[in-house]
Amino acid sequence: MIYSRLTGTGSCLPGAPVTNDDLAARGIATSDEWIVTRTGIRSRYLAAPGTTASELGLAAAQRALEMAGCDAGDLDLIIVATSTPDFIFPSTACLIQGRLGNKGATSFDVQAVCSGFAYALGIADKFIRSGSHRKALVIGAEVFSRILDWNDRGTCVLFGDGAGAVVLEASGKPGILATALHADGSQSGILNVPGQVCAGQVTGDPFLRMDGQAVFKFAVRVLAEVAEEVCAAAGIATTEVDWLIPHQANIRIIDATGKKLGIDRERVIVTVDRHGNTSAASVPLALDEAVRDGRIGRGQKVLLEGVGGGFTWGAALLEF
Ligand code: UT7
Repeated sequence: MIYSRLTGTGSCLPGAPVTNDDLAARGIATSDEWIVTRTGIRSRYLAAPGTTASELGLAAAQRALEMAGCDAGDLDLIIVATSTPDFIFPSTACLIQGRLGNKGATSFDVQAVCSGFAYALGIADKFIRSGSHRKALVIGAEVFSRILDWNDRGTCVLFGDGAGAVVLEASGKPGILATALHADGSQSGILNVPGQVCAGQVTGDPFLRMDGQAVFKFAVRVLAEVAEEVCAAAGIATTEVDWLIPHQANIRIIDATGKKLGIDRERVIVTVDRHGNTSAASVPLALDEAVRDGRIGRGQKVLLEGVGGGFTWGAALLEF
């Protein structure tokens, strides 16, 4: 039996934290009290103009490769989850591959917004389990600050920039135990960036738009469902999970999900207070933090899950 085993994690946050008070001081009609009460967010990181998803993803990838003791030249698969790529093309994965000096690895981007990392991990797991690939780099990298309307206080206070990465290697030892990936395109209208580049012009609306309450309800329901699904597939109860790493969008969504699954807050990794919502980067950023500070240890069961625009959602249960 071939498993995809996680051998390294890494992450990167740009610049210094920007607090809620900093945003209010920049003229956004908000307050620390409103943001903390509604979302749990206290600060986020915002990339300097010109900093790209590939730069953040590259730094996270180098740290993950270093932890894994893996040479970039040995990778045969590179997947980047991002909704804020450097360019329309080439893919952010190809840009990172080039800067890592790797030649020949299968390299592509996955666009599943805040579920992107769960999607990329699920896809990489299938490549490795099939026997076609042995060493994968999976990255979530975002500069969401580029697609925020800073005049829309209902969205601009929620998001941040960053990247996280993992190295997965084929192994006889577990490993990713189960993954599940889902979408419901009929819900595409509740969270989107409905703009495009056409004939040299941006047409439509190039900013993130969201029906916050609809997203909230959808997220709580599907995060609980998909967690149950992967645990059932692996033959364990959700209460047997050692660590839950949900998408970091809102502490109230995280708490409601943990409660539905019977997982106490002490066993939930939370970074939303310091990172805000970094979309596809949120789960690998939280994972890297908890691996490096020693909370997550070898042999423990970790449940990762994401939900986001599309609408998409997905989860991976792994033995670390
Ligand atoms: O990756 C998935 C991404 N998205 C999410 O997970 C978001 C899910 N949704 C949410 O987290 C919540 O719906 C929000 C945090 C976005 C909003 O919380 P809410 O409790 O649903 O608030 P609301 O949108 O109903 O707004 C309530 C009030 C409004 O004022 P009025 O109309 O009642 O006078 C808003 O104008 O809060 C006002 N408001 C703000 N006030 C201060 C909205 N944004 C802000 C703000 N600061 N930043």
